Amino acid sequence: MDAICVRGGNPLFGEVRIQGSKNAVLPIMAAALLINDICIIENCPRITDVEYMKLLLSEAGCFVSHSDRKLVIDARCATGERMSKEAVTGMRSSIMLLGAMLGRFGKISSSYPGGCVIGKRPIDIHIRALKKMGVRVREEADGFTAKASHLKGCILNLPFPSVGATENVILAAVKAEGDTYLYNAAKEPEIVSLCAFLNKAGAQITGAGSDRIKITGQKPLHGITYRVPADRIVAGTYVCAVLGAGGHVLLRDAPYGEMESMVRIATLAGAEVAWSGEGLSVLMEQKPRPIANVKTAVYPGFPTDLQSPLLAALTAAEGVSVLEETIFEDRFRIVGELQKMGADIRIEGQKAIVKGGSRLRGACVSAGELRGGAGLVIAGCMADQETVITNRHFIDRGYEDICRDYQNLGVNIVAGKTE
Ligand code: UD1
Repeated sequence: MDAICVRGGNPLFGEVRIQGSKNAVLPIMAAALLINDICIIENCPRITDVEYMKLLLSEAGCFVSHSDRKLVIDARCATGERMSKEAVTGMRSSIMLLGAMLGRFGKISSSYPGGCVIGKRPIDIHIRALKKMGVRVREEADGFTAKASHLKGCILNLPFPSVGATENVILAAVKAEGDTYLYNAAKEPEIVSLCAFLNKAGAQITGAGSDRIKITGQKPLHGITYRVPADRIVAGTYVCAVLGAGGHVLLRDAPYGEMESMVRIATLAGAEVAWSGEGLSVLMEQKPRPIANVKTAVYPGFPTDLQSPLLAALTAAEGVSVLEETIFEDRFRIVGELQKMGADIRIEGQKAIVKGGSRLRGACVSAGELRGGAGLVIAGCMADQETVITNRHFIDRGYEDICRDYQNLGVNIVAGKTE
């Protein structure tokens, strides 16, 4: 089985270059399908979710090439064939192709999306919004077919500011007739990146980053070169690692402006966090202070994706910390594994209550999903003796080379296999 082996217990020193953002690049890759031209995407991270999206785009008839971190998508020969089950179920973001395929071909036939097992993750908000735009959807046990002979702009009010549904509506709306007004839209930075990409390609979208977005449809789109911003979640993961293990680290290129809530928590926990032109410097000279009430929330709140990494770090804090999950109902899968390492954590409903202070001990643990896996690597860096984390492939979905990054911080860590 694929695994990571880490011998922890020492503080982290050095620097890490923060890779391009996973959650920004995936919808941008879907958006490239809308453009009957060539797009060049720079700073594209080399992660398995990007590989899945490349596979999906190739199946849709695009020519895709990826060398170093430059991704070229030529969608001039794209067709609207059925997406293979393997690629669609491998990744939640395959749902992004719903809006893009409808926008480009007026139809899509697909299995239901896969991705991290962190709750029920339905797609009802996407479907309801697209139906209002004139899409007819037939849902079956193992997949669905959606068709729209004529996409039309309309007024939409999302019941919850779903990131994926906001992206899908934008992708469909740039090809719809007339204006679409999207209310209660997600405000995450990845929405801003998607709209910046589309606007550079000729679209007319205003309000991205606020909860009211207006998309004027059917503007002619052309190929462009676009640089993906750095990944705020990867940068936040390494902030949590320094909180838990101590040390002094420079996160080169970290998107500081998008990390306010993480920086606030790190400061509360006792870290000195400073921004220089080069990146974010995080200095942690003592054990973290406990934090009484951290709640995950939509942007600009504390990201649900950093809940597990923070949970791992807070096991080092002397005293009681409480972390509440409000976005996904099943995102405490890391807790059982941290308990194997000696952590004292209790779950009460959507709250994790951490009694920290004593050092974790190495153990054999298993990643159950992407960010929980990254949290276990942090725990391994903090623990005495050796920790083996199996199911490394979950971590590879979102981190280019997590072992390389921690090696750069002086950690004794290698990727490998177990029996
Ligand atoms: C995106 C991110 C993910 C992040 C999440 C929340 C990508 C590729 N993934 O996921 O890393 O954790 O935003 O910031 O960008 N929901 C419904 N019905 C729907 C859609 C969503 O009930 O139709 C619920 C979900 O089950 C979840 C909540 O809404 O409880 C948030 O989901 P959403 O914002 O859509 O997250 P994703 O786009 O899947």
